[in-house]
Amino acid sequence: MDQQEILIASENYKEVDDYILKNGFKTVFLVCDGSISYLRLNRYFETVEERIGIRIIKFSDFQPNPLYESVVKGVELFREKCCDVIIAIGGGSAMDVAKCIKLYSNMNPEINYLEQRIVSNDVPLFAVPTTAGTGSEATRYAVIYYNGEKQSVTDYSCIPSAVLMDSSVLKTLPEYQKKATMLDALCHAIESYWSVNSTEESKCYSQEAIHIIMNNKDSYLANQDEGNANMLRAANIAGKAINITQTTAGHAMCYKITSLYGIAHGHAAALCLSKLWAYMLDNTDKCIDVRGEEYMNSVFKDIASSMGCEDKYKAVKKFCEFVDSLNFTNPKVNIGDYERLSSSVNIDRLKNNPIALDYDTIKMLYKQIL
Ligand SMILES: [Fe+2]
Repeated sequence: MDQQEILIASENYKEVDDYILKNGFKTVFLVCDGSISYLRLNRYFETVEERIGIRIIKFSDFQPNPLYESVVKGVELFREKCCDVIIAIGGGSAMDVAKCIKLYSNMNPEINYLEQRIVSNDVPLFAVPTTAGTGSEATRYAVIYYNGEKQSVTDYSCIPSAVLMDSSVLKTLPEYQKKATMLDALCHAIESYWSVNSTEESKCYSQEAIHIIMNNKDSYLANQDEGNANMLRAANIAGKAINITQTTAGHAMCYKITSLYGIAHGHAAALCLSKLWAYMLDNTDKCIDVRGEEYMNSVFKDIASSMGCEDKYKAVKKFCEFVDSLNFTNPKVNIGDYERLSSSVNIDRLKNNPIALDYDTIKMLYKQIL
């Protein structure tokens, strides 16, 4: 992929005007959910037609966990209005929808898009993340739902070619979301670091993201501009790391917690990671990374030093104390939930995890987590 262009938002978003004019775009397809009305950026898009004479086609006809059918409607509108760029504003869902619309925009509308081979296209995709967490603006993955089933859509060409970092979007984010999304980014960086797919490049991203998050969490939680701006940057860098490696067992284990108890994704990911991490440190003899047990221990040490800790156990302790300090309310578990949780785990994701995990271990971990 070409280097992603990063724009830093100014007071009047002149850089967005420049981006549109420089590229000669005439009709912008704006993918956003209802939360755009809380953003300063909303005013910009309300006035941009008048100011620089371009047309905005707004598409908000989708829900969280977006449906394939919504994407199809978006593709039809995109084609009908002859749009020449997609701007996606939002967290995960708007980004997922925009990526799929881009990928499907040059495919055959007579056949289900999910059944066709994706052919990369050069429709420009410009992303404005509204949380510092998912890192979706830096990854090749999108998730949509078809007939109740989760569908992963993946292609390098759906990585946005440009990103606007607008720290003002974080000012109005509810506190719980703000905390949970930060933890999501931190979990991405840590899981990517130890993933069996890690490379020198991905580990550099992980290290940098962990460093920025740990050094800016207080300023970010105090809603200061500098902390917000740096957290957006960290989430993007952690996204670049998982774009290379994908996530591991922590994420594989957290999805069912989110759907069963309705807690935020980042909150669930952090609960899982804390217990998984401690287990992994004590079970390096079950290492399945071809680089071996000694390598694994050195990675755990590297993660610790990225977190400012001199040993690997202190790093887990610091992570757990950090999560505790956020004062989350954890879900209450019913009898039978542990079986449901354990059997939900995607085995494919476990292959990325450097320490082998079986069903009984996963169940034991869930009992520690909840
Ligand atoms: Fe995540």
